[in-house]
Amino acid sequence: MKSLCSPVLRLFALVAVVSVLNLRAADTASPREHLSLDANWKFHLGDDWPSALHLDKAGGSTGPAAEKFNDVAWRTLDLPHDWAIELPFDNSSDRNHGFKPVGPNFLRNSIGWYRRTFDLPAEDSSKRIWLTFDGVFRDATVWVNGWLVQRHESGYYPFRQDITDVVKFGGKNTIAVRVNAGKFEGWFYEGAGIYRHVWLDKTAPVAIAPDGVFVYSEFSNNIPAQEVAVKIQSDLLNSTSAAIKKAMLSQEIVSPSGQSIAVMEQEFPAAPNVKSSPRSTIIFSSPILWSPEDPKLYKLITTVSVEGKIVDRKETEFGIRTVGFDKDKGFLLNGKPYELYGTCNHQDHAGVGAAIPDALQYFRIAKLKEFGCNAYRTSHNPPTPELLDACDHLGMIVMDESRLLGSDSENLAKWEDQIRRDRNHACVGIWSVANEEFSVQSTPQAGNVARTMQNLVKSLDPTRPVTYAAPQGDTFDGINGVIEVRGWNYHPGGDMDKYHAEHPDQPNVGTEQASTVCTRGIYADDKEHGYVSAYDMRGTQTAERWWSYFADRPWLSGGFIWTGFDYRGEPTPYSWPCISSHFGVLDTCGFPKDNFYYYQAWWTTNIVLHLLPHWNWAGKEGQEIRVDALSNCEEVELFLNGQSLGKQPMKRNSKLSWQVKYAPGTLSAKGYNGGKLVAEQKVETTGAPAAVQLAPNRTTINADGEDVGVFTVAIADAQGRVVPTAGNKISFTLEGAGKIIGVGNGDPSCHEPDTFIAQPGLKALPVNAWRWKLAKLQPKGALIPEYAEDFDDSAWSQIKSKTGDNDGMVLQEGEMAVFRAHINLTEADLANVGVQVRFTSIDDHGYIFVNNQRVGDSSDWSAQPVYDIKKALHVGDNVIAVGVRNDSGTGGLNPDVNVELIGKPISVGWSRSAFNGLAQVIVQSTKDAGEIKLTASADGLQAATTTITTQPSAGRPSVP
Ligand code: GAL
Repeated sequence: MKSLCSPVLRLFALVAVVSVLNLRAADTASPREHLSLDANWKFHLGDDWPSALHLDKAGGSTGPAAEKFNDVAWRTLDLPHDWAIELPFDNSSDRNHGFKPVGPNFLRNSIGWYRRTFDLPAEDSSKRIWLTFDGVFRDATVWVNGWLVQRHESGYYPFRQDITDVVKFGGKNTIAVRVNAGKFEGWFYEGAGIYRHVWLDKTAPVAIAPDGVFVYSEFSNNIPAQEVAVKIQSDLLNSTSAAIKKAMLSQEIVSPSGQSIAVMEQEFPAAPNVKSSPRSTIIFSSPILWSPEDPKLYKLITTVSVEGKIVDRKETEFGIRTVGFDKDKGFLLNGKPYELYGTCNHQDHAGVGAAIPDALQYFRIAKLKEFGCNAYRTSHNPPTPELLDACDHLGMIVMDESRLLGSDSENLAKWEDQIRRDRNHACVGIWSVANEEFSVQSTPQAGNVARTMQNLVKSLDPTRPVTYAAPQGDTFDGINGVIEVRGWNYHPGGDMDKYHAEHPDQPNVGTEQASTVCTRGIYADDKEHGYVSAYDMRGTQTAERWWSYFADRPWLSGGFIWTGFDYRGEPTPYSWPCISSHFGVLDTCGFPKDNFYYYQAWWTTNIVLHLLPHWNWAGKEGQEIRVDALSNCEEVELFLNGQSLGKQPMKRNSKLSWQVKYAPGTLSAKGYNGGKLVAEQKVETTGAPAAVQLAPNRTTINADGEDVGVFTVAIADAQGRVVPTAGNKISFTLEGAGKIIGVGNGDPSCHEPDTFIAQPGLKALPVNAWRWKLAKLQPKGALIPEYAEDFDDSAWSQIKSKTGDNDGMVLQEGEMAVFRAHINLTEADLANVGVQVRFTSIDDHGYIFVNNQRVGDSSDWSAQPVYDIKKALHVGDNVIAVGVRNDSGTGGLNPDVNVELIGKPISVGWSRSAFNGLAQVIVQSTKDAGEIKLTASADGLQAATTTITTQPSAGRPSVP
């Protein structure tokens, strides 16, 4: 079937391929390359080049922004990277940001520079080259080959640039990024740096536009039926000025089991320098629906060809499903009422902060699913795309939230970027325009702004509803009155019923609920240490309180707990030494707190029986201790050391309690349904810590340099039972094809480091014995005999004192001179990773030679220039010669100069204390297949060693 405009392809039999393109099977290779740019960045923390950005002349930026800058001494790292996590905790910094000294009052720690180079082969010269950042916290300034290519504010939105004009084909290209985390956006930990992926895309001049494919499914009345219409919209770019005779677009749909079920092709108009957006519809029967319980994904393969040759090919995963809200029945998935068992989450994890490897996204989503969570709110910002991939594949409905309410052109452009990027994800079920915009939300203006944002959603995505996370009660003013779905942040109680009665046609959802505070394994509030009891008894903010209210009201659609995971910052109710929140059902590592079992009991169909607290209360013998059973059994009977303490009936969405006089031994429980024993559980008093245990979440990971294994570290007694109060310090060593990237323990008040950074070794050799002589320099610093290694400078004047500000400032206005010094280097010196020379000041212009080889120039007297000189050096006597031209005032060369030997990174030992028996180690593979052997040891305890395999993996295509 071929057509020029919005064609429809109807398949009468499933698995029928109606039209097969001639070029399809023959050659699916396309010029498109989507390459990771994550590896091998150079990084420097500190605002050492405050005036690097020049806006007067193109290419005029200096310092690290300049192409020739020497970054040899900078640390090498791979992205994603969050430098805030590496800083020590500091009581004087912002509590909401987790007491990390970064942000408004810590400018020294708030500017980071990243640089890397990449080669582009000459054969790419006909391609378009795109540079994409998925997220940088925050305010990024990006240069390519010294050209300023982009300035982007905000730490959560992706940004992209077509850099074709400024790259060098057949040569080396340099990217420099200045990141300024000196301003906050949220009131929670936000990290600092390039904490999401960076990509280099190469496309043919006629190609699918970035985020240019939109595929969605439609059923009549939004209720899945026998026949589905898959609608496809493709934005195609022709960036050539050539007339294209025949441009063809092909759409192929591949079923979840990998079968090609439809191919359709159409011609599209590809006028020079024009974007066209052909649409197509493919109708077929018996679609397989996506749901959190069965997350089946289809694939769309979009192919573009020009005059018979494939010029682009892109695969897009999508799901077939419907979402909607009913004013009475609540949220509907695939046309049926579907209770949202949701959690709100920020985007940091123990050990790694905001720089979460993709595999850890999957780990986190899988953890949430363990207690029945089926929905995730990306509070309060656009997510990283890989989080959505994890939700697509593992099955989790996402409420995708913007960072800020605003209908100014910049905010709308960002909102549009977010929607275009995320709208193909099956998981995305609801858009949220904003959260708790207290100061404006009830005004007519906020209503207008929300309406504009909502309308933009509708114009870009006809399939999903829109909400606003509203903290008000019974208020219809402002945003609530215009938004499609009324969101409820808190207020379970009369306000909700009243509002619903007054506005019966508006659907509702619990956008944010609970804010329950509990510390894992702690059973009494402890202000001094910043811990909160896990009995979950704090007034109205308990799991039982909100959930039992919501569960009785289907029109509320279920809701989103604040929060699934604990996160850094917002310590509540206590502050320092507490540095993390305690709202999570899981702690910052993903270890379950007791409430995990409350939700599991009422959000899953598993039979659940859990007892709290632990039973290690030496010294409390004979005292009453509250024991709770979290269970969905109809009756639960409790026993202490075999003696029944009574059977109690369980009320739906509730929990049971007993007061028990403590005696060491075994606390146990039996759960009954219909009088039949269906579950048993016990908690035992353990012995003292005796051994460390290590358990990886996976025994095989990919040797792609990105995959991670998450190890649970436990402190056990002699019988192998986890000691629930143990806090032993554990040291970790790793051998083989991996590295540790982070450690944690879920303790909201722990100030131990999450990362141990190997810093490059640096040894400075002073070069202070300078001689100088007036000389006539050549234009542009061309070679003169005085720079030569064997030039005899013995009769030249010496700069007297060894160091000092003005000692070398010997030149009058307009004078020129050569300064020379010698340095003796050994073979061992030259075996270092890098050797550089660092000047304090060259006033005004300098031409720097080492052994007669030009190593660099300087034209800023206030800079402290550094040059990579390793290639120019040899064993024995070396000569550094600097031609200096002084334009104004006095000038010359400050003799306080160092040659710096840059050694291999010095590795440091990793350690972490257990918190209530547990800690976590996150290990990342290298690209070598093999084994990773992790050893955990603690003083006086038996050590543990565990090995996991790293299997050969091509990894994702990347720039070397
Ligand atoms: C909410 C807010 C969240 C978090 C929470 C703490 O009002 O939306 O971001 O601050 O309170 O309870």
